[in-house]
This record gives sequence, structure tokens and C-alpha cells, in this order.
Amino acid sequence: MNVRKNQARLSRAEKRRFVNALLTLKRTGVYDTFVTMHNTFQRSDTDTTDRVAHRSPSFLPWHRYFLIEFERALQSVDRRVTLPYWDWTRDRTAASSLWAPDFLGGTGRDLDGQVMDGPFAQSAGNWDLTVRIDENTYLRRALGKSERAPELPSRDDVEAVLALAEYDAEPYNSTCTSGFRNHLEGWRGANIHNRVHLWVGGQMATGVSPNDPAFWLHHAFVDKLWAQWQRRHPRSGYVPTAETPNIVELHGFMRPWNDVKPADMLDHRRHYRFDTEFGFPFPYDGAAGR
Ligand code: CU
Ligand code: CU
Repeated sequence: MNVRKNQARLSRAEKRRFVNALLTLKRTGVYDTFVTMHNTFQRSDTDTTDRVAHRSPSFLPWHRYFLIEFERALQSVDRRVTLPYWDWTRDRTAASSLWAPDFLGGTGRDLDGQVMDGPFAQSAGNWDLTVRIDENTYLRRALGKSERAPELPSRDDVEAVLALAEYDAEPYNSTCTSGFRNHLEGWRGANIHNRVHLWVGGQMATGVSPNDPAFWLHHAFVDKLWAQWQRRHPRSGYVPTAETPNIVELHGFMRPWNDVKPADMLDHRRHYRFDTEFGFPFPYDGAAGR
């Protein structure tokens, strides 16, 4: 079964397999097709035009399917790999094991933001950026250095958003003053999802954010928060449920896929489970270091 685990509890072997699968997808060019797709949507999703992946109700189901497709790609390399999630309410500093050289590597150097250690440093030879918004071909980060995001969201910030009973509200863009989706996405309130992109900085703060593998761990956690919200508000559902201009309604198709609707994405358990759904502690592939 597909179980998504907290990255802080992965064994060394699990980290190595995840990293190796990423490097393989990068080498074959598959990885960059995901970066391109994300950037295409980030650029076309606006508050007044047709919007699918961001600033709209389908932000959550779109990214859920995007992650499912990426996880399948990883599993075509190594079927034991699943997407880990990064609980940034707990692992909230640059000293977290997430940023160690055996996993994602650390922050960028002061000079140019270039990541200098770990498997995704350009100097390690396997991670040249081809889908870019500037000339730089190296991965950049500035963990915690953004003035707009000096701290990661706290558990209290998250609880306040999980308490919102309404999924989304008109006008279904980034200006909604109510609704779980716009608060979780980060355009209103404490700024949850967007703030994490800014806190990591570098490419993560741009449309080509999937260039940084941290993207997948961040979104796997945002996705988990959606599942938590659904459990907490069983009588609230995805809106809109009827045709609405520029918006993907419950039974509309989400570009670029012509066979995936928000309705198909409401139950994550058809595709994967989270470690926390099995009581605690989940039997991890223990023996760290294997
Ligand atoms: Cu996105
Ligand atoms: Cu994002």
C-alpha cells in the first residue's frame, strides 16, 4: 500500500531511495516536464481569467492529482518510494534533518543563494535547472531569510484555518475573505501555503518551484491538511457544484487532464494513505541506516 510518511521519520535507506528516484527522473527528463507544467499554470492562473491550479477552488484537487502523477513517476523508478510530507509546523528551522546533506541539502550561500551541499547542489553534478525564469542554472534557497516570511506557519495558524467550515467562497479567487481554500492557499489570514514557498526562497518562491524537491514535501503536507479538514467538516464539500465562469466546478475537468474532476480527488484513500491514519506509531521501515 501507498503510505506517505513524515519525512522526519524516514530511515536513511528510505531517504536514499527517494533521492535516487528523483535523480533518475531528472536524468531522463521526466522531472522537468512537471516543472514546465507547474510554471505554465502558475502564469495563466489569474484572479480574472480561467484558473485551475492556483487562486481557485481546484487549487487543492489540482495539486493532489499533480502529486499523484509525480508519485507514479517515482514509483516507475522504484516502486517502494512514496512522497514524504514536511510538517513545517514542527520542523521549522534550517537545522531540521530535512535540510541535511543526505536528504535535500541546505540553504544557499550568501553570495548568490546557490545551494552548495546535498544531492541537488549543482556542484554535485546531477541537478542543472533547464526550466528557468532567469539565467541561473543552479538551485537557490534562502531559508528563513525572506522579510515577508521570517517564520514558517505555526500549529495555531493551521488550526485557525482548519476551523473554517466553508470550503470556498465567491468570487473564487485570491480575494475571497472567507473560505478554507483561500486561507490555506495563503492569500488571506496568516498565509499558510504561500508563506512556506517564500520561507524556502530561491526557485521555491517562483512558478518554477518544483525545481526544488522541497516542493513535493511541502505540497504533500498541504494535501494532508486538506484531508484533515475534510474529516473535521464531513458536511462541507467542494464548491462550486454548478457551472461557474473561469472555475472548475465539482464535476468539471481540470486542465491539462481531460479525465480528472475535483470529484475524483475528494477521497485520497483511493490513492494513498498517511502514516498518521494508522494510529501511532506507524511501523516504519525501522532499522535506521539500513
Ligand atoms: Cu502550485
Ligand atoms: Cu505551492
